Amino acid sequence: MKAEIQRIGEETLRELKELDGLEALQELKVKVLGKKGSLTALLRQMGSLSPEERPIMGQVVNEVRSRLEQAWEERSAELDVMSLQKRLATERIDITLPGVRVARGHIHPLTQIVQEIEDIFLGMGFQIAEGPEIETDYYNFEALNLPKDHPAREMQDSFYITEEILLRTHTSPVQIRTMEKLFPRLPVKIIAPGTVYRNDDDATHSPMFHQVEGLVVDRGIRLSDLKGILLNFSRQMFGESREIRLRPSFFPFTEPSAEVDISCMLCGGAGCRLCKGSGWIEVLGSGMVHPKVIEMGGYNPKEVTGFAFGMGVERIAMLKYGIEDMRLLFDNDLRFLQQF
Ligand code: DAH
Repeated sequence: MKAEIQRIGEETLRELKELDGLEALQELKVKVLGKKGSLTALLRQMGSLSPEERPIMGQVVNEVRSRLEQAWEERSAELDVMSLQKRLATERIDITLPGVRVARGHIHPLTQIVQEIEDIFLGMGFQIAEGPEIETDYYNFEALNLPKDHPAREMQDSFYITEEILLRTHTSPVQIRTMEKLFPRLPVKIIAPGTVYRNDDDATHSPMFHQVEGLVVDRGIRLSDLKGILLNFSRQMFGESREIRLRPSFFPFTEPSAEVDISCMLCGGAGCRLCKGSGWIEVLGSGMVHPKVIEMGGYNPKEVTGFAFGMGVERIAMLKYGIEDMRLLFDNDLRFLQQF
């Protein structure tokens, strides 16, 4: 029995050395000293020994047990350190590794253009106004001097929702809404950027596009004020050397009306593919606000006059960046967008 106890002691010490983790250590402890452990089983047999043998055996058992306990402590401390080292090794951070760059989005080219236009006009004392995209026939047409049977309604293929409600075909209804809201204050001096809708779809037309409307109403506003503001805008937007010219045109809500051309930003006016040899590029519609429109807005056309203009944001972006197909602006292809 003594030999058996010592054998268990030796074997356990050997196994202790080979252990590789705290869990295995715990298992071994149960295997030897647990309720069903090998040493515990031997101790149970002590009862069958003679009174002379018992103290001798007791001493052997105590010796082996205390040796084991000491070895246990030591091994457990060793394993503790080992597991800490293992963990530290996996948690180590190499601060000399190059960083991972986070891909950031950026502002869509059309929004960039709108913001640029806004900045230019804010710099000239304009305020920014807004109106609804779902509009009534009254604001979109009637109040802009386009009665129901007016042939000019056909200039714009409209998306109607009901007989009286449609997706606005231009930002001009914001002229009326703003005058109604501001009356009787002067001056009215606003731009109205926004989304508009027309039943059109090809390389230079999209059913959804964007405009910036402009409106100035005050005592004594003249056509030369319109020309000065638009020349200033054109030079800030397309370069200091731009010139503009006003060509007679027609819009129901302005009288007189003018198309505004800018000297070609590609050839400087000599004539090229972009301006089709003319040296000029059409960028917006404008005119002196029709007296009826001023009246519809609530102001007295005998006291105040005004000018208005409307430009297509996509067209400005295409001219500024040399984009030939408008649909590129709506496809959201990253290869295109990342160039801006
Ligand atoms: N609303 C016109 C359009 O969409 C553009 C326009 C022309 C606006 C002349 C104006 C203007 O304010 O005076 O075609």
